[in-house]
Amino acid sequence: MNYRTLGKTNLEVSEIGLGTSYFGLMDERLIKKIFNIVEMNGINLLDTAELYGNGLSERLIGRFLNNRIDDMTIVTKVNANFDSGQHRENYIIPDLRNKIVGSVERLNTDSIDILLLHTPPTTTSQFKRIVALMSEFKKEGIVKFWGISATTPDEVLPFPSFANSIDVIEMTYNIIYQEPRISLFEKLKSFGIGIIAKEVLHKGALTGIALDHLSLLSQSLHKLQPKFFEEILNDIKGYMGSEFRREYLLRYALGFVLSDTSIHTALVGTSSPLHLLECINAYKERPYDPDFYERFRSWYQWQS
Ligand SMILES: NC(=O)c1ccc[n+]([C@@H]2O[C@H](COP(=O)([O-])OP(=O)(O)OC[C@H]3O[C@@H](n4cnc5c(N)ncnc54)[C@H](OP(=O)(O)O)[C@@H]3O)[C@@H](O)[C@H]2O)c1
Repeated sequence: MNYRTLGKTNLEVSEIGLGTSYFGLMDERLIKKIFNIVEMNGINLLDTAELYGNGLSERLIGRFLNNRIDDMTIVTKVNANFDSGQHRENYIIPDLRNKIVGSVERLNTDSIDILLLHTPPTTTSQFKRIVALMSEFKKEGIVKFWGISATTPDEVLPFPSFANSIDVIEMTYNIIYQEPRISLFEKLKSFGIGIIAKEVLHKGALTGIALDHLSLLSQSLHKLQPKFFEEILNDIKGYMGSEFRREYLLRYALGFVLSDTSIHTALVGTSSPLHLLECINAYKERPYDPDFYERFRSWYQWQS
């Protein structure tokens, strides 16, 4: 496993991180196997959230890592628009402290390495209050670094004047959805903001399994569904030509994201120890093929 410095946090994080959004739904024996694979393969960044399994993902991380939690970078997220399973109209800033304390308790630790706001506030005045509050939390030591988790660049771009205060951004990025590379990554890099890429497998579409279920899958991709979803996959398939094997897609998916030096960690989400091992193998076998990666960058630019 190789490691990259997560921007201005100076944390050394593994190029592959583990997304734990399925932990709340999984058998604990499988989770134990996943933790073994994580530790044996040098993965040192875990991504969780209060929302995953309604706190269960954080709890399981706290329980299974126990006193080894300090060896890992744990990223967790709070959503001040969300409470007791309900979305709320207003962003409730005072609730953030309780939420953070809740995450610290569930993770069974003293402080949160990286706290991300699941949906950032929508007005400058709210954002200003958040920045002040986060700086208080950092001074108290309950939060070490903070940032935003977003799906599209427009959730992050409205607040450029606060970029100096933000440590980390987590953003959807993969071969099929490259928007953040075009409009965001260079700006974040210039502020030294660490970048965690999420949904790098495009929710499973880039693992090969999706090739049998394209029509079903493209219906479920919502706003990330590009116009020519099927064509992209067929193009990748065509590029690999006679040599095409399913696992190649996974190798290229991870290789593409990590070929971008702005990215510090690529999160893979899985509920299966076997799939996690496949991802780690695909990471190790990822091609260093600048022509392929460049071709898909220009292809995306041409499409959009
Ligand atoms: N901040 C946010 O709003 C937000 C939103 C989404 C995600 N995230 C974070 O990012 C992480 C990753 O996102 P994600 O899990 O939604 O998307 P993803 O990593 O792009 O894809 C996950 C999907 O790929 C499948 N998969 C993984 N490895 C596979 C393999 N080798 N073969 C076949 N299928 C495979 C998984 O199924 P199996 O379970 O069957 O392996 C799962 O359905 C999440 O866990 C979470 O931590 C954050």
